[in-house]
Amino acid sequence: MAKITYKHPDGTETVVEVTAPNTVMRGAKLNGVEGIVAQCGGSAQCGTCHVYVDEGNTLPLPEMHEAEDDVLYGTASERRPTSRLSCQLPVSEAIDGLVVHLPPTQT
Ligand code: FES
Repeated sequence: MAKITYKHPDGTETVVEVTAPNTVMRGAKLNGVEGIVAQCGGSAQCGTCHVYVDEGNTLPLPEMHEAEDDVLYGTASERRPTSRLSCQLPVSEAIDGLVVHLPPTQT
């Protein structure tokens, strides 16, 4: 289980506990976190689960694969160096305390 913090563009935040083998995207959907659309259901095709990993993050996240990189070029909100697809971030105890920022829009 990992505690994940989703920071919204208006400055508020939602903190939820997510169990493996879910993803950061799935954790948002299961807990009704606004701001994650996830139209493709997690197959790294839609880009509507875009998040910005907190700049101070030191937790181990998987390397970005080519498909994720390609999709991130087409997201509705600007791509930044910290951009990731939350459906490609698996939850484990190793990322307990992860903070992600939600973009202004996903579509
Ligand atoms: S849910 Fe579609 S790319 Fe992540």
